[in-house]
Amino acid sequence: MIPYGRQTIEEDDIQAVVEVLKSDYLTTGPKIAEFEGMVADYVGVKYAVAISNGTSALHAACFAAGIGKGDEVITTPLTFAASANCVFYCGGTPVFADVDPKTYNIDPADIERKITSNTKAIIAVHLAGQPCDMDAIHKIARKHNLLVIEDGAHALGSEYKGKKVGSLSDMTTFSFHPVKPITTGEGGMIVTDNEGFYQKLMLFRSHGITRDENLMTRNDGPWFYQQLDLGFNYRITDIQCALGCSQMKKLDRFLKRRKEIVSRYNKAFADCENIVTPYQLPDTESGWHLYIIQVKNYDRRKVFEQLRKKGIAVNVHYIPVYMHPYYQEHGYKEVHCKNAEEIYSHILSLPLYPTLKEEEQEYVITTVKQICEC
Ligand SMILES: Cc1ncc(COP(=O)(O)O)c(C=O)c1O
Repeated sequence: MIPYGRQTIEEDDIQAVVEVLKSDYLTTGPKIAEFEGMVADYVGVKYAVAISNGTSALHAACFAAGIGKGDEVITTPLTFAASANCVFYCGGTPVFADVDPKTYNIDPADIERKITSNTKAIIAVHLAGQPCDMDAIHKIARKHNLLVIEDGAHALGSEYKGKKVGSLSDMTTFSFHPVKPITTGEGGMIVTDNEGFYQKLMLFRSHGITRDENLMTRNDGPWFYQQLDLGFNYRITDIQCALGCSQMKKLDRFLKRRKEIVSRYNKAFADCENIVTPYQLPDTESGWHLYIIQVKNYDRRKVFEQLRKKGIAVNVHYIPVYMHPYYQEHGYKEVHCKNAEEIYSHILSLPLYPTLKEEEQEYVITTVKQICEC
C-alpha cells in the first residue's frame, strides 16, 4: 500500500535518539529547551513550550487563554476533532463557522456571523498547511476583543504574507505526529510572544507546579516547589525532543520535496474536469501537509474503494466535527455548515510525503485519472 502520509526517518535521526538513551536524562533534560529554541527561532517568536502532543498543545493554549464555562470559541468544522475538543476540555463551547468553498479554511465572514457576547476566542486551523486568511481573522478579533489561537498542526513551515505560521497570533500550536511536517513520534508545541501565556503554559504542562522563586508564595528551602494551578502531566521526553531537533534541520528540505510532489500533481490534473485541485490563497506558502482533491461527477466512495483496492491508501480529511455522535449528543444536532458538508462529500487526500517515489506518484496519477476518466 502507498500510504497517504508517512514519516521520514534517516540514520542521523536514529543516532540522535540513541545518544539520548545513553545520556543522564530521558525526560526533563536539556533536549527539551534545545528543541523549543529551534522551533521558536524558526518561526520567529520569543517562547515555545514542547508538550506531549498536538492535542495537549491545544488544551494548554485554551487554558492559557482563560477559556472556561460559558465561553464560546469559534472554529472550523473541517478539521480533526482535537481542534474543537480542547474547548470542551476547558468547560467552554465550540461554535462552528463555515469554511470558504475555495480554500476549505474557516470563512472570516461566517466567524463574524457566529460572534455573540460570550465569544472569547477564535481557533483558526490551517487545513493541509494552507494558511487561513489571517488578516481578516485578526481584524475581526481586534474589533470584538477576541484572542486568536492558530492550530498549526499541519502548518509548521507555512507562510502568510512572508511571515511563518506561529509568528502571527496570540498562540499557535503544532503537532509532531508521524504524518506531520516533522515528527517526534507523538509530540506537540505551543509558540507565543506573550510572556504571561508562556508562564501559564509551562505550569499547565507539568501539574501546575513551579520551582521558580518569583512565582512561589514562599520558599522553605532548596527542595521546595509549589503547585499554583491545576495542570497535567503533559511533558514530552528528551528522547522525542532529540528526534525533533534532528528533524528540524531537515524541515526545509522536506517542505521543498512536498512542494515538488504537489506541483507534479497539479500539472497532471490541470485539465481534468472531474478533479478539483487545491486552491492557494495569494501571498501564502503552504507546508503541503496534505494534498486534498475534490472528485466531481463520480461517487467519492467508489473512487475511494477502487483506489484502496489498487494499493493506494487515500484518506478523507475531514468529517465535519459536529457530525460525530459525541457532538450530536451534546447540542449540535441543528448545526449545519453547508460548504463544509458539500466539500466533505467530495474530498480525498492523495499520498504526499517527502519519500514518495516518482514512480509511485506516477502510479497514483495514472490510477486516479483512469478511475475518474480524465
Ligand atoms: C488539525 C489538527 N489539530 C490537532 C491535531 C492533534 O494532534 P496530535 O495527534 O499530535 O494530538 C491533529 C492531529 O492529527 C490535527 O490534524
